[in-house]
Amino acid sequence: MDHPTGEREQTEECNPPKSALDSPRLPVTYLREKSSTWDRVRFREVLEAPIDPATLGEIAHRRVALRNFAPWRLHEAYDDNAHSGHPPIAVTSDIVSISPAYGSVLYNLARSVNAKLILEDGAGFGISSMYLAAAAREEQGGILLSFEISKYSQLAQASVNLVDPGSRVVQDDFACFPSHLAGTAQVDFAFVDAMHEKDSMLRSFKSLSGWMGAQSIIVVDDLSYSESARDGFKAMMRMEQHNFVCIVNQRFGVLIRG
Ligand SMILES: C[S@@+](CC[C@H](N)C(=O)[O-])C[C@H]1O[C@@H](n2cnc3c(N)ncnc32)[C@H](O)[C@@H]1O
Repeated sequence: MDHPTGEREQTEECNPPKSALDSPRLPVTYLREKSSTWDRVRFREVLEAPIDPATLGEIAHRRVALRNFAPWRLHEAYDDNAHSGHPPIAVTSDIVSISPAYGSVLYNLARSVNAKLILEDGAGFGISSMYLAAAAREEQGGILLSFEISKYSQLAQASVNLVDPGSRVVQDDFACFPSHLAGTAQVDFAFVDAMHEKDSMLRSFKSLSGWMGAQSIIVVDDLSYSESARDGFKAMMRMEQHNFVCIVNQRFGVLIRG
């Protein structure tokens, strides 16, 4: 991918798996390393921390079950075809959901900051939300508050209920998230995965700024989607709110404060 920022970029070697049983290492491109608490060793350890097989099994099971509920029409705000005379775009859980490898990255990063309050922009069918809700349930009083503008938010809520019934998927625009939080709330982890273009990504990022804690993480998906998405990430970096910034496998933009 193109160099996403003006800063020096260094990508680790991606070691091939030692055997067919080893999962491949996700390469990480480090863009800013000015943190006293985060470095490459810690980041790598977090990425590769083992996850309870029961949790992974639960999510894998739901992934398969969701195939019975497809396809669903995209929300018209998200569907370029909606007003063009072309048939509306229909999606399946397989199309919109992140893979288990990225889900594990989300879970582990959220756990690394003991995230108690997690926000998600774009639940889809709730697969990424399940990883995040699983991380939230590890903290007493932890909660995922996810936003999904489409009607299949109800499927996402049902997915989340399997992991943590206290977590919520709200059928609404992410822009409304402040009205669901107490004024004093502090967000520990946010996952931005709605529209993968600059303006939308930046809108979400800016709306989060004042809410993020001193030790917090924002993950942005999907930088491999478009130049516009990568431009959005560059702009986020330029705001200098994060002192450890990297990109996982040219896809997940990770912005860490702390
Ligand atoms: C790529 S999918 C999310 C996939 C999900 N995070 C996962 O990996 O399982 C993007 C979703 O964002 C939703 N979306 C788009 N704009 C939104 C907005 N402003 N607020 C909330 N959801 C939005 C879309 O309806 C779509 O379902």
